[in-house]
Amino acid sequence: MSNMLSKRLIEVSKFVKPQARLVDVGSDHAYLPISLIENKTIDFAIAGEVAAGPLHNSEQNISYHNLEDKIQARLGDGLDVIEKEDQIDTAVIAGMGGILITEILQRFVNRQEFTIESLILQPNIGESLVRSWLMEHNYEIVNENILAEDGHSYEIIVGKLVSTTPEYSREDLLVGPILKKNKNSAFIDKWNRKLKKYRKTLVGISNAQQPDQEKIQQVKADINILEGLLND
Ligand SMILES: C[S@@+](CC[C@H](N)C(=O)[O-])C[C@H]1O[C@@H](n2cnc3c(N)ncnc32)[C@H](O)[C@@H]1O
Repeated sequence: MSNMLSKRLIEVSKFVKPQARLVDVGSDHAYLPISLIENKTIDFAIAGEVAAGPLHNSEQNISYHNLEDKIQARLGDGLDVIEKEDQIDTAVIAGMGGILITEILQRFVNRQEFTIESLILQPNIGESLVRSWLMEHNYEIVNENILAEDGHSYEIIVGKLVSTTPEYSREDLLVGPILKKNKNSAFIDKWNRKLKKYRKTLVGISNAQQPDQEKIQQVKADINILEGLLND
């Protein structure tokens, strides 16, 4: 069972608290909720899917594992698949871009019906956008992880709903307030790569016929942040 999940999804699953009532948005094959239930971490999950093919895969896998009484596969866009009565306290949104993740979250917040205490987000790109959204919507970043798998680096960001708006600096939003405290090898590799890219970008935009001064200042600020963190 444990090898059902990729290293990335194993790390995502570790952030799901025991007995959580989970919605897995864009569940695809429903491996994440199946694994959590088979490992007896949780007892109830909704596997949401916007596309019929992946929903069908989820239904087949749920049925193969005889878990129809514990996992409901539902067709729908983002968090539209859950209702207040489901008493969901944890949402996983993994394996999508940061823009799509924040759009899904924003549509849910706009419903103004109920809240979700814990958000476990794994954007494939656009991590700082996801952190900004969390900050602006009163989610404190309580946990993070970064890992490398198959030549990609993946970040996992866990938000917890709090009563006062947390404050994060540009550095926090860029690299992660928790990730920057324990710079593992995936973190160092990712940001060394990005630093090289930012330096190239800076040369490019500085040599433009009409240099965009605001953009130049932003890239310089990010280069300074990264140099500070990597030379620590
Ligand atoms: C790359 S897969 C990721 C699957 C799994 N969550 C993972 O991390 O391995 C993305 C899945 O999200 C689904 N998806 C994309 N947009 C969605 C949306 N707005 N609502 C629900 N599911 C969505 C796609 O159909 C696809 O199955």
